[in-house]
Amino acid sequence: MGKQSKYVSRQPDAQGIIDWSAEDNAVWHDLVERQLKIIPGKACDEYMHGLELLNLPQDRVPQLHEVNAVLERETGWQVAQVPALIPFDEFFRLLANKQFPVATFIRTREEFDYLQEPDIFHEIFGHCPLLTNPAFAHFTHKYGQLGLAATPKERVYLARLYWFTVEFGLLSTADGLRIYGGGILSSPGETEYAINSDTAERKPLKPLDALRTPYRIDIMQPIYYTIESTQQLFEIADMDIMAMVHEAMELGLFEPKFPPKPKNDAA
Ligand SMILES: [Fe+2]
Repeated sequence: MGKQSKYVSRQPDAQGIIDWSAEDNAVWHDLVERQLKIIPGKACDEYMHGLELLNLPQDRVPQLHEVNAVLERETGWQVAQVPALIPFDEFFRLLANKQFPVATFIRTREEFDYLQEPDIFHEIFGHCPLLTNPAFAHFTHKYGQLGLAATPKERVYLARLYWFTVEFGLLSTADGLRIYGGGILSSPGETEYAINSDTAERKPLKPLDALRTPYRIDIMQPIYYTIESTQQLFEIADMDIMAMVHEAMELGLFEPKFPPKPKNDAA
């Protein structure tokens, strides 16, 4: 992280309420409306169920306490208000404490389709529905605990497992591919692409492979890893993930399936 963000999180008042502007609320509305049209038949059932439980408002940005009431009841999770960018230590400490960090800003219209920093639409609409799912919630908690105890180098490997599950994970179901990764579910372009692209590869997830697969954050993913049900996340959480991290470090990374990022665009 350590980068600059052009965004600044809005601060809650003493009651924890954030005073979103009319434009913020309008952007939220338009993002939700667009995404709700795209996800049926593409998002997994667990996600759709979580969305129903959360019952997010469409005409305004939700307040964190509204989301917390549902997460707390379902899985004991909370969302935590954070600045636009936080250090890795803080990120892992929060997850280890069943607190999902949410930067309280929303993208501008200029970045309506894509932005690199995760905004409140990505965090709440993308991730929170799955945080009502016990297997997903447990896996994310375990990841936080491991990351908190890990060295910076180990964290870089761990981050790939998170990337190919929590952010860009797909389910391979009897009805076809379904999405559970929040990075996909908060992006209309990638929601379509992850399911329908003929060029993207999809492979059954082996955690060791995911730990060794390089990724770029600024392109559609050339490869997605699939699991058969969210229940599988319980099994993965029970594996010796740190032993696999060390194995991955010894074996090294796979060849990237994407071109290198242009140097003058280094972010
Ligand atoms: Fe995310």
